[in-house]
Amino acid sequence: MPKIHVLSDILASQVAAGEVVERPASVVKELVENSLDAGAREIRVDMDQGGAALIRVSDDGCGMSREDALLSLERHATSKLRTAGDLAAIRTLGFRGEAVPSIASVSRFRMVTREGSSVAGTEIWVEGGQIRDVRDAGCAPGTVIEAKALFFNMPARRKFLRAESTEAAHVEHQLRLHALAAPHVRFRLRRDDREVFDLPPAPKALDRVRQLLGPELARELIALPLTRGNGIVVEGFVLPAAHARKGRRHQCVFLNGRPVEDAVISRALAEGFRGAVADGLHPAAWLWLELEPALVDVNVHPAKREVRFHRPLDVREAILESVLSGLRPPAPVLVKRPAGVADPAAMPEQAAIAPVIPVTTPVMTGLRAPQAMLPDWPGAPPEPTTVPPARAGSAPDFQILGMLLQRFVVMESADGLVLLDPKAAKERILYENLLRQRNGAPASQGLLVPVLLELDPRDLDLLVRERVALADAGIEVEPFGGNTVQVRALPAGLGIDDPRAFLVGVMDELLHDPVTGAARFAFERLARLLAKRAAALIEPRLAETQPLLAELFACELPYCTADGRPTLTEFGLRELERRFGIAKT
Ligand SMILES: Nc1ncnc2c1ncn2[C@@H]1O[C@H](COP(=O)(O)OP(=O)(O)OP(=O)(O)O)[C@@H](O)[C@H]1O
Ligand SMILES: [Mg+2]
Repeated sequence: MPKIHVLSDILASQVAAGEVVERPASVVKELVENSLDAGAREIRVDMDQGGAALIRVSDDGCGMSREDALLSLERHATSKLRTAGDLAAIRTLGFRGEAVPSIASVSRFRMVTREGSSVAGTEIWVEGGQIRDVRDAGCAPGTVIEAKALFFNMPARRKFLRAESTEAAHVEHQLRLHALAAPHVRFRLRRDDREVFDLPPAPKALDRVRQLLGPELARELIALPLTRGNGIVVEGFVLPAAHARKGRRHQCVFLNGRPVEDAVISRALAEGFRGAVADGLHPAAWLWLELEPALVDVNVHPAKREVRFHRPLDVREAILESVLSGLRPPAPVLVKRPAGVADPAAMPEQAAIAPVIPVTTPVMTGLRAPQAMLPDWPGAPPEPTTVPPARAGSAPDFQILGMLLQRFVVMESADGLVLLDPKAAKERILYENLLRQRNGAPASQGLLVPVLLELDPRDLDLLVRERVALADAGIEVEPFGGNTVQVRALPAGLGIDDPRAFLVGVMDELLHDPVTGAARFAFERLARLLAKRAAALIEPRLAETQPLLAELFACELPYCTADGRPTLTEFGLRELERRFGIAKT
């Protein structure tokens, strides 16, 4: 007797369902994808009890003949894929031929479908994968699929379903994603017979974002210009940095019409917002990517949520480029002035890069800031928000009280206690200086005594590869035989007393965050890194606080370092009272 046997079709479907059908929202995802593949212009979803009791998806798509309807219940039966070659050029959302049989194997399932050209439609009843009845049905062209009592035959899975409201929220989120992916389609959602939304077909993606976001937030959307990269086109919208949130629920990314989650994409978004969004928060974004199907593998995740890019660097560059150009402040209007009269307000060309975010974009902390209450994301759980500070310009009126542990400056503000991190402040100042200086010749300062650095081979290789980028930032490095390099010049204006300590620090940073990519981005990253290392070497002194604050508040984004760490933090009176148990009425 062999130990191995072939699973029955129903059992195989139930096993497959374990991967595809995790919860009601996954049923909605699969059925809606099928409706979209069928060319539907209108899709309606009904759910009862968070989808655990009923999910019904109705569409006006192409429908199926009786023969096809029966075939769709078989495993690996699909109209979307014939050859292995098709898989590399897949344009439909589905292709595995697994979703319908999987859902039918774990629910009480009913399908009613009719092709536009047929006189009658077909109705099929399935229970736990067993076909119970097939008959003619009078129905409109299109398809209705119903899954009742999800996991009724798999008690272990049913136990894993969350509270009704949680499952309903997931369904709603899923449908919103589809609605964004296919703006031209009308989407309706009903929950326990109450309408949740009815989104009319939207002429443009922006209209759909507006429908879902509401007019308040929609007003703040920043359009990202259509950007063409190597085999990729990117387009979309972001919200200013102040709307960044924990978690990535508000980052909606569509790749060839498919909602996807991908680290390459989210990292590129984070990079585009670098310097404006605190660590741990993620900018809100809606991105539509069109990629040649041959450049991406969509067949790497059971629910197709994740993809694999063949050329991730191209994807990153295109997104970064698009985000940066969307966020760049508009070019200043040039006013002709008589020859020889200098414009004091003229900014060096590269300074345009420094405020990667429009100057009005708020960052970090609530210092003297309007305590704006942001409406929550529809359908998303509440998350901490950042609050816009006052615009950069003059320093707020702080009274300097003293130094804490030789590290932080303690100050009094109109509203309570403020702590300043002088190193972080210096980092912001140096960073913006470096970006401003970049215009024209690299501002470097020759060392009286060149520094010789003995490096291990890995560091040496890195340094040699980054030589051009380093020279661009004012660091002149030359090989000096063996594993030794000679450093002849450092960037001006960093006030470095100990070039060796500085360079060793820079090497450490470079190893962790190599400076590669388009020169513009490389310079920005290098500036961030140099500023960080130079600032790390300063000894904070109380007497220098006043000028430091003045310089800090002359910066475009005074409230955080380029890495997003705060420069100042405030404990308002209310917070102090709360800590001392002084109730406020
Ligand atoms: N709403 C619908 N309208 C028209 N045809 C449909 C509909 N739903 C399913 N079908 C047909 O049934 C087939 C099987 O659907 P199923 O979702 O199981 O597989 P698929 O979409 O081809 O691949 P995947 O498993 O990746 O979703 C589809 O290929 C399609 O031909
Ligand atoms: Mg499908």
